[in-house]
Amino acid sequence: MPADNLPPGAHAASLDKNTGTGTRPGGGVPQRLAQAALRDVPWEIGVAKPDPAIVVENVTRTFGGLTAVSVDHLEVQRGGITGLIGPNGAGKTTLFNLLTGFDQPNTGTWSYNGKPLGKLAPHQVARLGVVRTFQLTKALSRLTVLQNMLLGAQGQRGESFLRALVPGTWRAQEKANTEKAMDLLRRFKLDAKKDEFAGTLSGGQRKLLEMARALMSDPQVVMLDEPMAGVNPALTQSLLGHVKDLREEGMTVIFVEHDMDVVRDISDWVVVMAAGRVIAEGPPESISQNQAVVDAYLGAHHDAPLTVEEEDQVLAQAGAAIAQEEHGGGEVLGTDSTTGRTER
Ligand SMILES: Nc1ncnc2c1ncn2[C@@H]1O[C@H](COP(=O)(O)OP(=O)(O)OP(=O)(O)O)[C@@H](O)[C@H]1O
Ligand SMILES: [Mg+2]
Repeated sequence: MPADNLPPGAHAASLDKNTGTGTRPGGGVPQRLAQAALRDVPWEIGVAKPDPAIVVENVTRTFGGLTAVSVDHLEVQRGGITGLIGPNGAGKTTLFNLLTGFDQPNTGTWSYNGKPLGKLAPHQVARLGVVRTFQLTKALSRLTVLQNMLLGAQGQRGESFLRALVPGTWRAQEKANTEKAMDLLRRFKLDAKKDEFAGTLSGGQRKLLEMARALMSDPQVVMLDEPMAGVNPALTQSLLGHVKDLREEGMTVIFVEHDMDVVRDISDWVVVMAAGRVIAEGPPESISQNQAVVDAYLGAHHDAPLTVEEEDQVLAQAGAAIAQEEHGGGEVLGTDSTTGRTER
């Protein structure tokens, strides 16, 4: 991991890929607490958690005839990192949109610390402590990095945001916001870029900016929608470190990610969605062996042995394809014997 990508306090640390706790003094306690709290929770869909921050009840969202989300009951444990996984189109982003007020459900309710969150606008949800980042980064490319950060400040509405852009009309609150923004930019190694347009940042830097901006409102729950997607591998370890740091600071993190190595490395608990439903939940080690999960990712029966009839059918198709090639009916394919690669 490049040292200049590490968050403050992590300079001497090597984030341990197995435990995620690193070697920094005192590090890893929140992770151990989160995992200990979940140790005796059964690996069952909709299972109650010892200390849920978020509780989802009967939430559905349809688009035309398509059911994008249909979650009967889901609890998210406070202070842990919950990995939310599932094939493309499973409904992960739609669920995030609903929970953070960016979309409205057809049915259902959800609460944060027992407070209902439905029907609130995103800025009201953020003010209560629940924020999200976007799968496709929403950093505004024609605003500077610092201006993007100020947009994330708590309760920031259009008019006060615009005032914040005009020097001389700054008020104490805006000054405090700027200081906070600069602290966060330093932590994410973006302070040198504060006056650059967000559009000039690399994809990875934009993801960092999104995460930094989400922290402007002092959230308690942070939902990250594929924070690693499209990020240069040199930055992914740094991003992972930042996500683990959120847990170290006591935040509850929900994290959408496709890379199972990352999911295993970082999650205290994993929730699997497919076709809008939760199809499995449990600690990371419970997931890869789960038949419903394997089927959802690979298509049902993928790894079941073929029946005799299926085998005959496959052999007959292969025989026909070979015969067609031999009679010059198909494209000529040759295999490079050194690379094993089929070449046209
Ligand atoms: N605004 C919309 N209008 C119509 N259909 C939508 C809309 N948003 C999402 N969908 C559909 O809902 C389903 C769930 O989409 P969603 O984006 O939530 O999946 P996802 O799990 O986030 O997938 P990915 O891993 O590809 O990001 C998909 O079939 C998608 O096409
Ligand atoms: Mg998505």
